[in-house]
Formats: sequence, C-alpha cells, structure tokens
Amino acid sequence: MSTPRRFSCLVLALGVLQLSFASLSQAQTAGLGTAISESQLREFDLVAAPDGSGFPQGSGTALQGKLVFEARCQACHGANGEGTSGNTVLVGGDMHSAERPLRTVGSYWPYASTLFDYVRRAMPADSPKSLSNTEVYQVTAYVLYLNGIINQYAVLNSETLVKVNMPNKDGFIDQSQVQ
Ligand code: HEC
Repeated sequence: MSTPRRFSCLVLALGVLQLSFASLSQAQTAGLGTAISESQLREFDLVAAPDGSGFPQGSGTALQGKLVFEARCQACHGANGEGTSGNTVLVGGDMHSAERPLRTVGSYWPYASTLFDYVRRAMPADSPKSLSNTEVYQVTAYVLYLNGIINQYAVLNSETLVKVNMPNKDGFIDQSQVQ
C-alpha cells in the first residue's frame, strides 16, 4: 500500500472512532436509561439466608400451601412433587443409596431457607416473583411437607423456617478454609 493511501486509511479510522464517541455522548444526553430507584432495587434485593436474615413478614402452613401448589406448581412438578422431567423432581431421593443418588429438595438441600429464597426469586418458572410472600411461605411449607420434613399444620415464618431440620444438613463439607 502506498503511503498516501495508508494515511487516508488512518484518517478514515480516526473518523469512525470520532463518530462512535460522538454517538456515545449523544446517547448519554438522549436520556436512554435512568438511575434505578430504591423501590426497584428492592425487587432484586431478595436474599433470604440460612442465618435468618432477609426474610419478609408473613407465615404459612402446608395445608394452605397445597392450594398454591395445585394452582401454580403442579403443572410442571406433578401432583406430589414427583416431577414431569429430570430437573423438576422436588420430592424423594436418598443421598445414601447405592445407586446414583437422586438430588431433590428433600434429599439434598441443606437449608430450608434456600427453598424459600429460590421459590420467591425464580418460581413459578413461567411467572417468577408473581407470588405474595405469604404464598411463598405456604408453598415452601407444602414442599417440605411433601418430603415428610414437617407436618401440615406447622407454621413457617422467618423464625421457624431456619430451624427446620433438613435431612442432608450434615452432608456437606465446609471447604471455605481449604488453602
Ligand atoms: C412452567 C413450569 C414450572 C412451574 C409452573 C413451576 N416450576 Fe419449579 N421448576 C421448573 C423447572 C424447569 C425447574 C428446574 C430449573 C433448573 O434446573 O434450572 C424448576 C425448579 C424448581 C425447584 C428446584 C428443584 C431442584 O432441586 O433444583 C423448586 C424448589 C421449584 N421449582 C419449586 C416450584 C414451586 C414451589 C412452584 C410453584 C409456586 C414451581 N416450582 C412452579 C418449572 C416450573
């Protein structure tokens, strides 16, 4: 390539660069995007942890949760949580079986708080965050009940939920200190 052509290529490239900077600053002044508000932020700030932090007001029993489950969960998870596909099984399994273990909420999950947290954030899969906090407490209780972990009258709330004794709670090794 001759020097003048090379030079004009460089000029062209600089021009394109300048143009894209120009459109960038235009975008900023065009009002695209606004700062997130405190109330919008609360929609995402949904961590309910095993130490009991982050739980909302409300409570529920499995007896109440049965209705929520039938209306909002059963289509994908089956009438008794047996699932309609490999990753929708919510009930059963045994981590100590000689066969390949089936990991479910009942057999595998160490904390009941994770069930509340996950359902509130991600379920029903076709309409996440559409349940009220009370409905999440109720349906969490029902899934625990289906797994034989609590009875149908046990009241779940921010205090009782973290005390639920999950079958596989000792099945994990804390490797946070491993160097
Ligand atoms: C439209 C279908 C659909 C509906 C309705 C639905 N789920 Fe799910 N659910 C799924 C799918 C698919 C997965 C697996 C997601 C994955 O593996 O990433 C899942 C996963 C889960 C899990 C985690 C299971 C595990 O061990 O990993 C729980 C708990 C759960 N759903 C509870 C519920 C509850 C409670 C409801 C009703 C409020 C509900 N789901 C409604 C499709 C659905």
